[in-house]
Amino acid sequence: MLVLSGLPRGIADEWVEALAEAAPQLEVAIGPVETGAGAVEAMLTWKPPKGEISRYPNLRFITSGGAGVDGILADPDLPPDLPVVRLVDDALTARMTAYVVHAVLQFHRGALSYAAAQAARTWSPGTVQSPSDTRVGILGLGALGTDAAQKLGALGFSVGGWSRTPKEVPGVKCHHGKEGLGALLACTDVLVLLLPLTSGTRNLLDAAMLSHLPEGAALVNPARGALIVEDDLLAALNSGHLSGAALDVFVSEPLPATHPFWTHLKVILTPHIASRTDPVSAAPQVFENLRRARAGEALLNRVDRDAGY
Ligand code: NDP
Ligand code: OXD
Repeated sequence: MLVLSGLPRGIADEWVEALAEAAPQLEVAIGPVETGAGAVEAMLTWKPPKGEISRYPNLRFITSGGAGVDGILADPDLPPDLPVVRLVDDALTARMTAYVVHAVLQFHRGALSYAAAQAARTWSPGTVQSPSDTRVGILGLGALGTDAAQKLGALGFSVGGWSRTPKEVPGVKCHHGKEGLGALLACTDVLVLLLPLTSGTRNLLDAAMLSHLPEGAALVNPARGALIVEDDLLAALNSGHLSGAALDVFVSEPLPATHPFWTHLKVILTPHIASRTDPVSAAPQVFENLRRARAGEALLNRVDRDAGY
């Protein structure tokens, strides 16, 4: 049996339908399972409800319902050797790339200042730059960062990227490790965060790190809010060091109603919708992992629990 638990509202029903289509023989339940918990072999979750993992003594693996696993790895009940997998899915990737391209284009084309000019009924044409004049720096060159980098490169942007280990991505100037980060930030006009949240990336973008960006740079964060020290970001926006930020994720979600990001004129804000798993597209991968687990084969997209992603 596969149990669905701790998923964003509404999506559990979509998963039930998609799994029924992809694997009609699979028994699927929405957790918590009260009786027969011993039959639960796998859990599909986003953020496991407190204490739920311990209900199922015979789990073979836990799969994220999305790309990130920070909500799962933070669960104190997660058994130390239980395999954790995540989704790598074309539909999820395509949705994220569309968000990133849209956000980068907004800054490249001065959308914030033209919105302000429109509100003031001011006809004030600025210069029109080519994509190659805008340098986009992408932190994280995994499934999502690599696709976004390639699509932005195809539009003519100058693209650089940063990862933990050395990478080669055609058309992308790749940097890695601590020493590579400052070098990339110094020549980035629009910074895009596509990193997982781990002990190595939490609070990575603080005042000191943001100061490496050129004056007037913009930031796009569809990854995780806690990659950034939010007060330091606000200060950089208020001082004019940064010209704008497109933010989809926040340290605290839903973003509290009193948070200054809601009304900040330099912030373009969305409620964690940069991408969203399409269960129809992703269900076969979940079922394939269950088959592999039963057969004792290596699982797809297994997370390195020490690295945190
Ligand atoms: P991947 O695991 O495929 O890629 C992660 C990338 O980050 C890799 O290139 C990795 O480096 C790099 N990285 C990890 N740690 C470090 C570090 N300490 N220093 C430098 N680079 C590092 O992840 P995805 O691309 O699939 O997803 C990225 C994140 O996007 C997810 O973890 C999730 O948090 C977020 N997300 C948000 C969504 C939304 O709707 N807002 C939707 C989907 C995902 P290396 O290549 O060397 O391993
Ligand atoms: C994910 C997300 O990690 O939606 O998939 O944030």
